[in-house]
Amino acid sequence: PTTRYYEWNISQQTIAPDGLERPMLLVNGMFPGPLVEANTGDRIVVKVTNNMVNGTAIHWHGMFQNGTNWMDGTVGITQCPIPPGQSFTYNFTVPNQWGTYWWHSHAASQYTDGIYGPLIIHSPDEPHLAEYQEDVIMMIADHYHTDSGSLVSWYLSPDSEGTEPVPDSGVINGRSTFDCSGDSQALFPTGNKCKDGAPMSVFDFKAGTTYRVRIINSGSFADFQFSIDNHNLTVIEADGVDMQPVQVQRLPIHVAQRYSVLVHANQAVDNYWVRALMNTNCFNTPNPALNPSIQAIIRYEGAASTQAPNSDDWSSSAWVAVCVDLTLDMLKPYTIVPVPAADVSYHLDISFQTISKDHVNMGYMNQTSWRPLMNDSTLFQSQRGINTFDAASTSQFVIPLNNTTNGVQLVLNNLDEGSHPFHFHGHVFHVLGWGHGNYQPGVTPLELVNPLRRDTITIPAFGWTVVRFVNDNPGMWALHCHISWHAESGLMVQFESLPDKIKTMDIPAEMKSMCAASGAM
Ligand code: C2O
Repeated sequence: PTTRYYEWNISQQTIAPDGLERPMLLVNGMFPGPLVEANTGDRIVVKVTNNMVNGTAIHWHGMFQNGTNWMDGTVGITQCPIPPGQSFTYNFTVPNQWGTYWWHSHAASQYTDGIYGPLIIHSPDEPHLAEYQEDVIMMIADHYHTDSGSLVSWYLSPDSEGTEPVPDSGVINGRSTFDCSGDSQALFPTGNKCKDGAPMSVFDFKAGTTYRVRIINSGSFADFQFSIDNHNLTVIEADGVDMQPVQVQRLPIHVAQRYSVLVHANQAVDNYWVRALMNTNCFNTPNPALNPSIQAIIRYEGAASTQAPNSDDWSSSAWVAVCVDLTLDMLKPYTIVPVPAADVSYHLDISFQTISKDHVNMGYMNQTSWRPLMNDSTLFQSQRGINTFDAASTSQFVIPLNNTTNGVQLVLNNLDEGSHPFHFHGHVFHVLGWGHGNYQPGVTPLELVNPLRRDTITIPAFGWTVVRFVNDNPGMWALHCHISWHAESGLMVQFESLPDKIKTMDIPAEMKSMCAASGAM
């Protein structure tokens, strides 16, 4: 095993990803941020220096962190923020997992402003390794012309009436072409310059080569339909779990999900559109100025360099699935892992409730709306034996999972009119079923033979999902909606796994001193 060492500086810089200048929060000045790449078994060491005015933390989305929960990078849950002007070094090994992951800030809504990048783990044991020659990363994301802090303040005020901020545009690998003239002046924050014709991302392909395209939705709100003109997509991975190959023309992908698809460059030497179409019909309120079609170009070697390919749009072909994931019978894991028996089962309702005194709409899991601790973390509290954050608390909903090594079943019930991409830290869950309406135990059959496993699932609007996971990873683990606005509005619960083992964890003293230093974020 090798140690992969990175040094990162996070600072605010003004750039124009889609042509419109705005201040962004960037790692080493890059958008997206640097690629972290390692083999299974390697050690990843990242020295993060915070040159911003607010505290921060970096989360390694999808890493199990088994035995190193304190490296999970989640403010208020596994650590206190890295204070401005200070450094902290993340240091963990990657045992027994591989595939497409990503990293992002897990402090307030900072990742919406640019603090994210790809995290790719390779293994000689990957079953599809011989089926492709090249690796390509496409990070697709909605994009905003206003800083996320202002958007959150507006969203969590009576003015929004509970309507989420809608994106102004989108980016593929940090680039796209925004039409400055088509927008109303009101959408440009004062003084921001807009230049037409900003370059979009171009991917160089060679005829005859098969590519593994790793698609990551690193956005904050929008789910996308991904497609490539004239090319089939063969899905082989979802969220770090190898899949039995399944061919599609377009792929729905919600916030924080990842897929690998094989793309065979078997077309004439030419340029082809890559399309990430925002599902704006899944928003409550559309933005009429938004062009939902975010594009990039695949350019075969030898093709002329045009910014306007004349290829066939496959985004509308085949089946129609909107605001939900691919069905469970399309996504079959390559390797069978037995589903654990459920020792315990929890029922979690997702809803938005108006707090009457100030007319603000907050996200609730059962009766609790999450607010991050500022000078402490629930992990540290658990280690100190404090138990003030039980289900009775209005801002910390912690479900203690004692020493059962079997399965924990969750019935997630969405009482809201929007779909929610829920991510569980430190685990993949077995997805036993999902559907519209109410889950009826005993009536709705669950898939118990080789069901999908992944770390981020879409819970349909007014729908349900049943998942199971093994309680084998000691620590404090967040389960939350990955839509930035919803996480900020409180749609988050925590699982305190194996509290006896948390007590004896060897958490570096340096981490606890950050709590004293961090103050308000
Ligand atoms: Cu991708 Cu809680 O995070």
